[in-house]
Amino acid sequence: MTDERTPQVTVTACPDGPLLVRGPATILDADGRPVPRRRATVALCRCGGTAVPPWCDGTHKVNGYRSGPEPQDGSLS
Ligand code: FES
Repeated sequence: MTDERTPQVTVTACPDGPLLVRGPATILDADGRPVPRRRATVALCRCGGTAVPPWCDGTHKVNGYRSGPEPQDGSLS
């Protein structure tokens, strides 16, 4: 449940690109440790090509990454 006092976090899948995370989400690494972030909006790599994981470094533009169709009903399959 959210209200005007609860900061909203949104995650937006960019076509053929990263996931944009807006708001005060805590990003954790594979060991569960918080990854420092300096911006209110950050881009998470989903192409696997970045040199600075978990952040997008723009490599998706040159490695041919295609995200494919997004699920219409929120399901993973
Ligand atoms: S999505 Fe941008 S480098 Fe992977």
